[in-house]
Amino acid sequence: MDYPKIKIYQNPWISEKIPWAFRTFVQIFVVIPEDNCYNNRKCQKIRQKYRKRAVRTSTHKSGKDKNMNQLEVLRESLGQCDEIILDALLMRNRIVEDIMVYKEANNVPILQPEQEAKQKEWLERRMQEKRHKNEVADVFESITRNSKKIQARKLFNYNIVLIGFMGAGKSTISDYLKTVFAMDIIEMDQIIAERAGMSISDIFETYGEQYFRDCETNLLIEMQSRTNVVISCGGGTPMRECNVVEMKKNGRVVLLTAKPETILDRVKDSHDRPLIENNKTVPFIADLMSKRREKYEAAADIIIETDGKSELEICEELIHSLRQMDAKAE
Ligand code: S3P
Repeated sequence: MDYPKIKIYQNPWISEKIPWAFRTFVQIFVVIPEDNCYNNRKCQKIRQKYRKRAVRTSTHKSGKDKNMNQLEVLRESLGQCDEIILDALLMRNRIVEDIMVYKEANNVPILQPEQEAKQKEWLERRMQEKRHKNEVADVFESITRNSKKIQARKLFNYNIVLIGFMGAGKSTISDYLKTVFAMDIIEMDQIIAERAGMSISDIFETYGEQYFRDCETNLLIEMQSRTNVVISCGGGTPMRECNVVEMKKNGRVVLLTAKPETILDRVKDSHDRPLIENNKTVPFIADLMSKRREKYEAAADIIIETDGKSELEICEELIHSLRQMDAKAE
């Protein structure tokens, strides 16, 4: 890939050759890229144009006319800045995609959260004592978020559907995927509860389990119009065969598993799971799990054991398994 070269500029405009008066004018009335500039031919042309315009405006015009022209110069300068930003962004996005291709081709971990931390530190250092620190930080946050989205789209052009027993880590892993890929999360239980205006336990009590299961089916159908979202299912969602059919229409199904002891440890302090609320014991969990295992496994495109693994490790495994599966399907 042939990228334009990026050079560090030390205020190239304000060189010793430019007379003091002109320098001052340029500093006041023309927006100058401070010291880091994306150097390509277009950028150089823009600079030449600024200089010519600035000279013309400062030497030949006066009064209202001059002000008008200065405003025009400023606006045009701003437009040219936007051109530079746009070019740099387009190039940046291409690089982001190429990094992803490189990582995959060379078996480098896809997720490198330390890299984001480094970029943050760099920005903090570069912006020390500078004006508009918060505004610039805000723009960079948006750039980072959108880079993550680009990466996610490069990897998955479908939805990721997380299934598994209560406490298998579906919500935790979907949150992590949101952090690293800025993907939208569909937390099924939460959406159903919000729409019903009551907790899952109250839905079970008021309308019964069938009603709740119908809500799950309808939500899965609704999600088929979305792409690149993570759908975190309720533990019982794949028990209905039609749900599995709906999940697979626009999604890859990832089964997260954990030992009953691990599950108990993860759910012991929560009270929003009516099916185990009064039976939080390893034998009860193991029994319900074994009744569900066959259906879980039949629904799954890939299976990931979560015991003793970090969120990063689980997500890295998830990405690799999905990509391997996609490669085989191609
Ligand atoms: C259920 C699991 C729960 C929730 C409901 C029923 C199940 O979701 O949908 O209590 O049948 O396993 P989580 O797996 O997110 O706890």
